[in-house]
Amino acid sequence: MKVCIVYDSKHGTTEKVAEAIREAIEKYASVEVKRASNVETLKDCELIIIGTPIYYERPLKSVLEFLEKHSAELEDKKTAVFIVCFAVAFGSLVRWHIQNHYIKPLVEKIPGEIIGTLVLKGGIGSVSEGEIEKAKRWAIKLLDF
Ligand SMILES: Cc1cc2nc3c(=O)[nH]c(=O)nc-3n(C[C@H](O)[C@H](O)[C@H](O)COP(=O)(O)O)c2cc1C
Repeated sequence: MKVCIVYDSKHGTTEKVAEAIREAIEKYASVEVKRASNVETLKDCELIIIGTPIYYERPLKSVLEFLEKHSAELEDKKTAVFIVCFAVAFGSLVRWHIQNHYIKPLVEKIPGEIIGTLVLKGGIGSVSEGEIEKAKRWAIKLLDF
C-alpha cells in the first residue's frame, strides 16, 4: 500500500508528527511525506494522511488550498486528518469548538472516505512523547481499513 502524508507546519511541530508517522508505518507500507504546497499529484496514493497545525482558529491556508486543488483526485481515495493545536489542552470544554472550527473546515473539503481524525496537543516546535506515540498508534490502525 502507498501512503502519502501531506502536511504543513510553521514551527516544525506538525512536521515532527508527520515524520513520526512515517517512521511508524514504513515497515508496513510505502510512505511519501510532502508539504501541502509541493504536492503535484495523488495518483499513486491509496491512503492520504493530512496534517495541519491551527493558527488563529483555522487550519493553515496551504492545507485548505491543497484540499481544494486536489478535490477531484481525493474523491476515490481514503483519507485521514490530524491537527495539532493548543486548545485540546482544555479538554471537554473545547471539544465542540475543535470539531466545528478546526476539523470541520478540513473534512468538508474532502469528497472521499475519511477513515480517521486525530487531535494532538502541540507547542511551538515541540510535541510530547505521549502525543507522538498517540499519532503512531493511530496511523498504524489506519492501515487496517
Ligand atoms: C501565533 C499562534 C497562533 C495560534 N493559534 C492557535 C489557535 O487559534 N488555536 C489553537 O488551538 N492553537 C493555536 N496555536 C498553537 C499551534 O497550533 C501549536 O503551537 C502547533 O503545535 C504549532 O504547529 P507547527 O509548529 O507545526 O506550526 C497558535 C500558535 C501560535 C504561535
